[in-house]
Amino acid sequence: MEDQDVVSVLVENRIAWVNFARPAKRNAMSPTLNRRMMEVLDELEFNDDVGVLVLGGEGTAWSAGMDLKEYFRETESLGLRGVRKSQAESYGWFRRLRWFQKPTIAMVNGWCFGGGFGPLFACDLAICADEAQFGLSEINWGILPGGGVTKVVVDLLPMRDAMWLTLTGDLIDGKAASAMRLVNESVPLEQLKARTTQVAEMLLSKNPVALKFAKDAVRRVGTMTYDEAEDYLVRMQEAANFHDKSEGRKEGIRQFIDEKSYKPGLGAYDLSKAKTKA
Ligand code: COA
Repeated sequence: MEDQDVVSVLVENRIAWVNFARPAKRNAMSPTLNRRMMEVLDELEFNDDVGVLVLGGEGTAWSAGMDLKEYFRETESLGLRGVRKSQAESYGWFRRLRWFQKPTIAMVNGWCFGGGFGPLFACDLAICADEAQFGLSEINWGILPGGGVTKVVVDLLPMRDAMWLTLTGDLIDGKAASAMRLVNESVPLEQLKARTTQVAEMLLSKNPVALKFAKDAVRRVGTMTYDEAEDYLVRMQEAANFHDKSEGRKEGIRQFIDEKSYKPGLGAYDLSKAKTKA
């Protein structure tokens, strides 16, 4: 049952806790794990019981990156066909996660190496333990950070930090990762689950259609000119209006202006008062 066991899933109170689950191999991403992760994302993406996805790791690692034996050496022995297939499987679920229908949080408990930066970036938010350790170990075993990793660090970090991590393979802990803005925040390991739950619950209180369009917009506008972004955001809000059957923005305005039951500057409107679900 290795196929089923390499990823664990628990859905509780609308939060899907998805874990890399190969602790004995420090959650290295094997082709089996990559295939299973895609299936799990498939199962959860349009599941109405899920409002937020959290990606964690079992044991001492979040993920030790790509599996050097099963992902690199064994697929290379199958020739180009094997290599391309494995790449498509891993890049495929990273992409699926980047554009996932629900907001996503990386909950980084421990080691996060190389290829692990792919899913780290794919998650919308990232919270780590102070004890976590991040590193681009590629240079230490003689390759460049591929599979999108160099792009990830250049997008997330200033050039000097990106270059330092890439050329030295140095480790940084959670607090340093947070100071560098590789993650949103770092907390002591014993508080990691509680803090992540708190953030997930905050996201669950927001309009889900608005969340999906907003997260996509943040990723999309970066490569657009100002005018393109302005136009894109107008069109996307119009598309969101079409998709949001609860007419969330009208409800949000009604609860503030007419009902005076909340203040948008201080928190979200009450989703449960909308006549239809978003
Ligand atoms: N690929 C394949 N196997 C890996 C792996 C990886 N990326 N990371 C860990 N493992 C395996 C080890 O080979 C070992 O297997 P074994 O028990 O069959 O011998 C097992 O996981 C435990 O690893 P170990 O090195 O003993 O654990 P550790 O806690 O002392 O060290 C790391 C943890 C993460 C620092 C260390 O395993 C490591 O450097 N891993 C490679 C990180 C890396 O470069 N990743 C690739 C990025 S693209």
